[in-house]
Amino acid sequence: MNTDRAIFMPPAASTSAAGVDDVFTFINIIVLFFFLLVISLMTFFVIKYRRKSETDTTPDLAHNTPLEIVWTVVPLILLIVIFFIGFKSYMDMRLAPHSSMQINVTAKRWMWQFQYPNGVSAINDLVIPAGQPVRLVMNSEDVIHSFYVPDFRVKQDVIPNRYTSLWFQADSPGTHTVFCAEYCGTSHSNMLGKVIVRTPDEFQQWLQNGGIDDISGMPLADQGAILYKAKACNTCHTVDGSVLTGPTWKGAFGKTITTDKGPAVVDENYIHESIVDPMAKVHQGFAPVMPTYKGQITDEQITAIIEYIRSLQ
Ligand code: CUA
Repeated sequence: MNTDRAIFMPPAASTSAAGVDDVFTFINIIVLFFFLLVISLMTFFVIKYRRKSETDTTPDLAHNTPLEIVWTVVPLILLIVIFFIGFKSYMDMRLAPHSSMQINVTAKRWMWQFQYPNGVSAINDLVIPAGQPVRLVMNSEDVIHSFYVPDFRVKQDVIPNRYTSLWFQADSPGTHTVFCAEYCGTSHSNMLGKVIVRTPDEFQQWLQNGGIDDISGMPLADQGAILYKAKACNTCHTVDGSVLTGPTWKGAFGKTITTDKGPAVVDENYIHESIVDPMAKVHQGFAPVMPTYKGQITDEQITAIIEYIRSLQ
């Protein structure tokens, strides 16, 4: 559904966006109306009743009951209207339909991990079917994050040791950005994800395929380049020599580095170990913050990533 009824807003891409935009627009129009009314009356009175001579005095003014009733009752009615249209939208957004598909979300510095009912898991890319309500049950492994999709007009804090939830339905295929809206450390601004809305058929195919588009048959290093993004390695590792939270992959292969357990050569075994057990040997000068990918990645995928790193000389 594309109901772009609100100005200053990204295209509305979820079924609840129209309700949010209507409340937003309604409040904006009221605010604008009263702003102009008050400012013009004020300007008018300042000029009309300005002090014209030395002998001008301020008249003794008592209160004006009809006027005071008007400026009390009118805002009261407006507030009641805002409450009801806001409350209706709010309830729609809080109560997920029974037909919702549940997806579990784990936030950790600095990535989003999505787990589907059939066991498929994906990192940073949340693929959903068009036309079906989706309910996210979210929790954080470390600090507070916040799942925010401006196009859907939804935002919910993701908290350690507590589950929070959120639902939405997108009716047409497309891609929408997920932001982390709670400052969570060095790479907070890189903690970006995507909601990819696909047709129900394409979605089912993707899900059956284990949550990844078919990349077999491509050269290994190219598969590694796709996995580098799909598995969110790019949140912390660059491939151009610059340094983010983790060491760059450029020229890394074959190098001898200093780790907290002594020197190590960056070879196949070192990379494999660093992916499944990142705390085993931590590269000196880098914080021990990498999450383990054990269970999130297959050995074939690790091999492709190693091949990709080897190609970055
Ligand atoms: Cu996660 Cu900011």
